[in-house]
Amino acid sequence: MAREIIRTQQFAADAARFIIDSARRALAERGEFRLALSGGNTPRPVYASLAPAELPWEKMVITFGDERCVPPDDDQSNYKMANETLLEPAHVPPSSVLRMRGEIAPPLAADEYQQQLDTLAAQRGEPLYRHDLILLGIGDDGHTASLFPGTPALEELSRRVAANYVPKLQSWRLTFTFPLIFAAREICFLVNANKPQSLIDRIFSGDDTLPAARVDREANHVTWIFGEAQP
Ligand code: 6PG
Repeated sequence: MAREIIRTQQFAADAARFIIDSARRALAERGEFRLALSGGNTPRPVYASLAPAELPWEKMVITFGDERCVPPDDDQSNYKMANETLLEPAHVPPSSVLRMRGEIAPPLAADEYQQQLDTLAAQRGEPLYRHDLILLGIGDDGHTASLFPGTPALEELSRRVAANYVPKLQSWRLTFTFPLIFAAREICFLVNANKPQSLIDRIFSGDDTLPAARVDREANHVTWIFGEAQP
């Protein structure tokens, strides 16, 4: 595992720059950029900073690391958040976006999305779909994507996408599994100044009860971008 840490007071701009640089490398090497978006609130300003970038969005494959089991126009939808902050403002063609269908039965939505990724992988001669960059956040309980501590999806060693019931939320989620996350060329955790340092310390200490710590330890190349409060 190679871990890189970036601490910045220009969180959104620097995170957007990191994504742009990753995109340019992938486009130069393989003619496409396969990016997985993170959900929640932290990425909002990052996506807004990314939207004006001069990028060939038609050469992108944009996926979602997880999704709430709600319709795409629901305020809880990660797709809705990404659409408002990035996809619409950047005029990303719909053909470049793979949306997890949170509005249908979770197991069906997971199967459908997994099949879509498997088809893309097969078209590229890959046994497993390989993202160029997966963006991730962390919850206060150490979850990442929708891999929550103590939930069944943590045990998925073969599926690439899972429907995961989260008791603490009393709701279903759709999520990438560890095998899909570990297959990525790069991982970038986006962590704003609101996250407690004690959580970061536990993750970096290798506390494997925290799903984010497992990604930090086992993924290929992990970059942490920490937003620091303005003085
Ligand atoms: C989600 C996310 C989740 C998120 C963390 C942090 O669907 O909620 O994918 O993993 O990244 O919960 O959320 P905030 O950025 O809102 O703190």
